[in-house]
Amino acid sequence: MSTATQSIREIVTSQPSAVGIFLRFDIDLCLQADLPLARACEELQLSVDQVIEKLADAAGKELGAVTFDPESLSLGRLIQHIVRVHHHCVRQELPRLAEMATKVSAKHSDRAPELTKIAELIENLRVAMYAHIQKEEQVLFPFIAQMEQDSIVAHPAAHACFRSVTQPIFMMEQEHESVGHILAELIGLTKHFEAPSWACATHRALFAGLRAFESDLEQHVHLENDVLFPRAIQLESELKARS
Ligand SMILES: [Fe+2]
Ligand SMILES: [Fe+2]
Repeated sequence: MSTATQSIREIVTSQPSAVGIFLRFDIDLCLQADLPLARACEELQLSVDQVIEKLADAAGKELGAVTFDPESLSLGRLIQHIVRVHHHCVRQELPRLAEMATKVSAKHSDRAPELTKIAELIENLRVAMYAHIQKEEQVLFPFIAQMEQDSIVAHPAAHACFRSVTQPIFMMEQEHESVGHILAELIGLTKHFEAPSWACATHRALFAGLRAFESDLEQHVHLENDVLFPRAIQLESELKARS
């Protein structure tokens, strides 16, 4: 497994799939080849933990390791995974990206006026995502986890401030759509997160970070919309049929 102290060259030599990950994060395979991973990430203001996590995922796939199968997890374990991996990414990355966007906009909006709007959209995304994950963690996820516990001990479904789990789920899906619109706007304004040739290191790091965040959010929303929520609705209807 790759470590923060290994150089970019050493990692690429021992793990061919690292090339794709480094390109995705805009790590320069020539100029940064001899730097330890931690230093290369620091230069681009990237989270070294996030890069190591992506390298480990790619290494797992390369070795034909058993891939992550969310359907095989209990609802409680799936929720734990979503919070630990994806909500953690929201809390770690969005303030960092918002701060970088403010700096880049202050420095370069004369040359690229869209940077002002990009900074505004990232802040909107941060506010919307913070409120969203808080509702999931405080209301919906505990309810789903409790419902699963109830199903095991054959008790009636947990009491809540809503009539059916479909209500908060519908609300969360609407919010996923709203943040999807913000990201679509960001993709348009940044031309798919491609930094211009004159961009400074912070500008490049911002776009690379946004690209990585977008990919994480896609997986995050997929796990909720396509796996967790349908299974929770199914479980609720089974519990209602029992009572
Ligand atoms: Fe979530
Ligand atoms: Fe969500």
